[in-house]
Amino acid sequence: MKAIILFGAPGAGKGTIAEGIKAASPFIHISTGDMLREAVKQGTAVGREAEAYMKRGELVPDATIIRIVEERLDKGGKDDAYMFDGFPRTDAQARLLDESLARRGARLDVVFQLAAPRELLMARLTGRRVCRKCGASYHTINIPPKREGVCDRCGGELYQRPDDQESTILKRLDVYDQQTQGLIQYYAKRGVLVTVDSARPRQDTVAEILRYVQRPAGS
Ligand code: AP5
Repeated sequence: MKAIILFGAPGAGKGTIAEGIKAASPFIHISTGDMLREAVKQGTAVGREAEAYMKRGELVPDATIIRIVEERLDKGGKDDAYMFDGFPRTDAQARLLDESLARRGARLDVVFQLAAPRELLMARLTGRRVCRKCGASYHTINIPPKREGVCDRCGGELYQRPDDQESTILKRLDVYDQQTQGLIQYYAKRGVLVTVDSARPRQDTVAEILRYVQRPAGS
């Protein structure tokens, strides 16, 4: 089993970059945000618990996150390659991920820190639109759909995430600064951190990460 992390603030482009990597590599995309939104949509116990935290822009409790990630990894095989997006976000989640990978005879290969300035994060999140049906992500200015409000991929309706209101975005950015950003040091000390400029066109960021993950072993 192989594992990489796409790490970064809300709006850094984790989901967008994950789509590009997934299309060109065997990595399985595990986005805790997507898993939680699906749980909310389905009205499961996890979804009912998570909804209020997400609406406020706060983190969902560690125990719930760790449980859903463990359940997902339990379904996988020993040769799977995972790309985590939006996980881990706290010290406890990072420790538990290490333990979980070790139990499965795997370890973390690389943590890609997607770096972009705060003004850009704000502009990206306020303009984001997502397909209700297939989850594809657009931006009203940067990555507009061919027909306004309609998904290019499946024809589904595009909507604005409830947590993409300006006041909630500011809260999410604060939560990132206070509870998540510190993990950069944790991974830098372990020598697995690679910082990538994600303020560029998305294909450039995807290409840089792909070059890295597809390099021959030992180089
Ligand atoms: P989550 O869904 O993970 O949200 P997030 O981390 O806030 O990240 P975003 O999805 O907002 O941003 P992104 O970096 O993926 O950017 P994107 O590619 O979409 O989490 C939501 C909530 O769930 C959390 O607040 C929390 O409550 C809960 N949660 C989730 N995981 C948790 C965990 N582990 N622990 C506890 N709670 C958890 O891009 C944004 C926009 O920019 C898009 O419109 C896109 O089209 C555009 N864009 C992206 N890249 C480019 C580019 N290069 N050029 C131009 N436009 C671009």
